[in-house]
Amino acid sequence: MTNRTDSQSQITSGQNIQGRKILVTSALPYANGPIHMGHLVEYIQTDIWVRFQRLIGNDCTYVCADDAHGTPIMLSARQAGIAPEELVGRYFAEHQRDLSAFLVEFDNFHTTHSTENREIVEDIYARLDAKGLIARRTIEQAYDEQAGMFLPDRFVRGTCPNCGAEDQAGDNCEVCGRTYSPSEVIDPKSVVSGTTPVQRESEHFFFRLGAFEDSLRDWTSSGHVDAGVARKLNEWFEAGLQDWDISRDAPYFGFEIPGAPGKFFYVWLDAPIGYMASLVNLARRKPGTPDLNTFFAADSDADVYHFIGKDIVYFHTLFWPAVLEGAGYRKPTGVFAHGFLTVNGQKMSKSRGTFISAATYLEELDPESLRYYYAFKLGSGIDDIDWNLEDFVARINSDLVGKFVNIASRCAGFISRGFDGRLADKLDDPELFDEFVAAGDDIATSYQAREFSRAMREVMRLADRANQYIDEHKPWQLVKDESQLPRVQAVCTQGLNLFRVLMTYLQPTLPGVARAAEAFLDIEPLTWHNRGTPLLGTVINTFRPLMTRIDEKAVARMVEKSMTTVPPEPASPDGNTESKISLDTFLGVDLRVAEVIAAEAVDGADKLVRVTVSLGDERRTVLAGIRTAYDPQSLVGRQVILVANLEPRKMRFGTSEGMLLAAGSGAQEIFLISPDAGAQPGMRVR
Ligand code: 2FM
Ligand code: ZN
Repeated sequence: MTNRTDSQSQITSGQNIQGRKILVTSALPYANGPIHMGHLVEYIQTDIWVRFQRLIGNDCTYVCADDAHGTPIMLSARQAGIAPEELVGRYFAEHQRDLSAFLVEFDNFHTTHSTENREIVEDIYARLDAKGLIARRTIEQAYDEQAGMFLPDRFVRGTCPNCGAEDQAGDNCEVCGRTYSPSEVIDPKSVVSGTTPVQRESEHFFFRLGAFEDSLRDWTSSGHVDAGVARKLNEWFEAGLQDWDISRDAPYFGFEIPGAPGKFFYVWLDAPIGYMASLVNLARRKPGTPDLNTFFAADSDADVYHFIGKDIVYFHTLFWPAVLEGAGYRKPTGVFAHGFLTVNGQKMSKSRGTFISAATYLEELDPESLRYYYAFKLGSGIDDIDWNLEDFVARINSDLVGKFVNIASRCAGFISRGFDGRLADKLDDPELFDEFVAAGDDIATSYQAREFSRAMREVMRLADRANQYIDEHKPWQLVKDESQLPRVQAVCTQGLNLFRVLMTYLQPTLPGVARAAEAFLDIEPLTWHNRGTPLLGTVINTFRPLMTRIDEKAVARMVEKSMTTVPPEPASPDGNTESKISLDTFLGVDLRVAEVIAAEAVDGADKLVRVTVSLGDERRTVLAGIRTAYDPQSLVGRQVILVANLEPRKMRFGTSEGMLLAAGSGAQEIFLISPDAGAQPGMRVR
């Protein structure tokens, strides 16, 4: 990144950072659900980066907002029997409460359902239309006659036209992974009313994305996105840029398009414009703060960085820069994408209790433990990050409590008790101190490049070194000999100064601990550039534990509280809760114990695993839709239950000779059934 390299060389050269003006955003959370651990990866990542920018002396504005519009929010409100404005209002307060509890500190948190957003969206649309960048075309779309509305693709479900799997979304199959259009789905049903949708025509408005191909290619290849994202973009360029449908028909919760009654702007047009609206709202409320033009004027020399998840790269690296350019604004300096969160190696799951909300986490645990753990795991790429709960407990207790805070707690008592809190007038080992200060250049480079994991590891290496220094000098022994008391003061002053340098390095990650440490050391707020001036001859306050160990029982309680039961099957029309089958029908199902002897992912089908099982004297190959829950390798050697007398089913990826029994509600939650130990392959199951 051009600007990144500039500010990076400023950092590594040490002093005199020219305060750069930087706008930073995190993706806007939808206003129809609580903030959870997955969202927090991004808010914590962004907040750490923003705090680092401020710590090194840049002038950083961090804005966000709730993403309030769209069909799902309209329908959630309808289901709750309230107006969408009311639903959105509830989450607006809740989101801010939860995010600020995790010390995510926005300069402004606004909403896309706001006057500012409406004004800017209308203005941008008018500019695009005036330049001939909006096309109007009539399209056919699924329409629910009972609900009186057009249906977005995922509100149509039916049988997959490719593999025959039932109850699949209108645009892709969870079982075989194929994508298709809702009109191809067999026996389609509307998710809203359960009725069969019809195809109906309507005029839609399209943004001519293709007009920006050359300039998007230039932008992509000039360092505004990381290599992995650039590769993805090149694939999209090769596939060709399609016009983008930016209108939706009433009923819709959003902004009506001026001059087009009954047509609304699609939520994804007004969502990123919400970044601008939040900035403008801040400028209006606080005169003197930067305004829209500071960051978005075509000739602005300030920086604009968007932090997003890897699922919304298309919107932020194609649609958004093109819309900005079309409307006469500048394009972003950088778009940074991160991966998803897994918990204990698997997707977050309500039934396993790993779909954890911010609020539930906070009932049991401390927000900064999570900030540290995420930082410890985060690099600059789009790999998923895993929150392993056992490792989390061990990591916090060992790194933060056992190593880092321990440096201060080992030294503070001696200074308070023996010297009225006064630090020595000079350092015991200035060279060691200088080594700690010098390490800051690399740590700054890592923070700047979003290689937080590398930064945390380096800080912990230094923490080990500081503890080793204290171990070598043993103040607890020196204190027993009156003549050695000056040494005690010198050694503990050294230890506390090493602690202070490390606290500076951890300040972006642990801002609350940093505040408490500043109070304990009785110092002004830490800055990166002052880290090299040691604290000597001043009086410190009484030490109170800056962090405490995590009790694994608290983690278990959090998981327990997050477990939700899977709702029972809906009642059948005749009032029975389930339809009945005869005993004969049941006994006609041949269930067998089988042992997995090989398993591999199926190329081209995200969800399928090709499983070869042994029934003792016979082998079968089964295509099982269990990829989201199981790593194929982990299945080998395991016993499962096979439905052995199903007719073989031809699928695009081969023939499936049976089915494996599993519990759970679907693609995200699959639990294979296994017999107790001792069962033999081929045994009948009754
Ligand atoms: O994917 C999402 O959760 C969207 N609400 C993100 C919007 S980011 C921006 F474009 F507004
Ligand atoms: Zn399919």
